[in-house]
Amino acid sequence: MTTITTLTATATLDEKHPAIYHHELLIEQRENAHTASRTVQTTQTPSVVQRALLLHAAQQPYTLVADHAMPTLLHKDEILIKVTAIGLNPIDWKGPAFNFGIPSLPWVNGRDLAGVVMQAAETTGSRLRKGDLVLVPSTDYRDIRKAAFQEYAVATHFNAAKIPASSSTHASASVGVAFVAAILALGVSFGLDLGVISECPGPNLPELLSTVDVNTIPSDVRDECFTSREKIERPKAGDWIAIWGASTTTGLIALQIARKAGLKTICVADIARHGTKLHAAGADILVDRHDTVRAVEIIRGVTGGKLRYAVDIVGRETSTLLQATLDPEIASDGSHAHLLGLTGLPKERDERIIYHTVPIKLFHSSPEVGEAMVTWLERLLETQTLELPEIVRAEGGLEGVNEALEILRRGDASGKRIVVSLD
Ligand SMILES: NC(=O)c1ccc[n+]([C@@H]2O[C@H](COP(=O)([O-])OP(=O)(O)OC[C@H]3O[C@@H](n4cnc5c(N)ncnc54)[C@H](OP(=O)(O)O)[C@@H]3O)[C@@H](O)[C@H]2O)c1
Repeated sequence: MTTITTLTATATLDEKHPAIYHHELLIEQRENAHTASRTVQTTQTPSVVQRALLLHAAQQPYTLVADHAMPTLLHKDEILIKVTAIGLNPIDWKGPAFNFGIPSLPWVNGRDLAGVVMQAAETTGSRLRKGDLVLVPSTDYRDIRKAAFQEYAVATHFNAAKIPASSSTHASASVGVAFVAAILALGVSFGLDLGVISECPGPNLPELLSTVDVNTIPSDVRDECFTSREKIERPKAGDWIAIWGASTTTGLIALQIARKAGLKTICVADIARHGTKLHAAGADILVDRHDTVRAVEIIRGVTGGKLRYAVDIVGRETSTLLQATLDPEIASDGSHAHLLGLTGLPKERDERIIYHTVPIKLFHSSPEVGEAMVTWLERLLETQTLELPEIVRAEGGLEGVNEALEILRRGDASGKRIVVSLD
């Protein structure tokens, strides 16, 4: 059963904050269906233009245009998707606000989408057919054709996961980039064997990478992709991992997967707000984020000062705190402590610790890795092994994106993903 909060388009003025629109919240329960995957009747792809949200300049809202060029397929691996739901990510407002991740102007943004395949790939053996309902983590943001804030988007077949009938399309639209980041962090940077998850075994990504032509991996992420080549560096069942920012969508997925792979998890978050959810997701130890000095003491105390793996999903300040929770000594077998920062790493480093950033590009640049991840995601969804984040559903189509991003920026969606419906 998936809980979806619907943010209706019928906004009413907030009396306390006249400039802010308050939304009527409706809770909608969806019964699980039992068929394995979904195919939708497709209508003809429209002509040469479509509606899209354009970013004309940093620190500006997106502008809706009706004459943006329809994206065209340029490669036999590509598919065309009619977008029906867009999952919003923090980068969608942070990029324009702080002027990063924008290759040129005007630009189309948007990193997570779900929709219907309108044109299948020409590659033989592609899993996807016209009419399939898919979710796509659009990590290849330098390719404007793949952005989510438009009616039609391009993806590669190895970056699209079929949405099973048992999953809500909108909840599925919320999970892609967070899933990719969490899995690459655990499975590639740390080298955790995802194949040991008994309910739904995943890929052993270090093993898979050992079969991939190194030259196909972008040079700026190559070292990170092979950082867990040595088996002694990889986490094993019973090891502790600390996750700072466990209530983020990425953190919630990382926690579930780490726990299912046998790690013991310490989760730092606002426990009053998110404790129940994190406990249900399998957190072994919950640590409140508001007293950071005490949080560091608790992590050190619980692990006896022996923590070797930590993921920060908040920023440089908290990654610096996490650094202080690790045992930095190089072990007698030569293994190290590992710290991964999704949004920043400490300025002052300890040369005995191995620092990681997530090699997000690997997902779209390696067909082998991309396909292994999306087919596993399909199985995780179908078997309901992975609990999807709770979502806030924003109606109103592309017109509603600026306002929904403002809610995200203010932190009012705390612990929930906002998904914009284009149905
Ligand atoms: N490098 C990459 O490729 C990559 C990929 C994916 C994501 N990211 C980054 O990772 C971060 C998380 O992304 P997301 O989409 O998973 O986030 P999200 O779902 O939007 O996360 C929102 C959550 O962050 C929590 N939070 C805010 N400040 C916190 C703090 N100081 N300590 C602990 N928790 C805090 C909030 O909790 P409260 O309710 O307590 O406020 C809220 O539950 C973003 O900065 C994103 O840009 C990077």
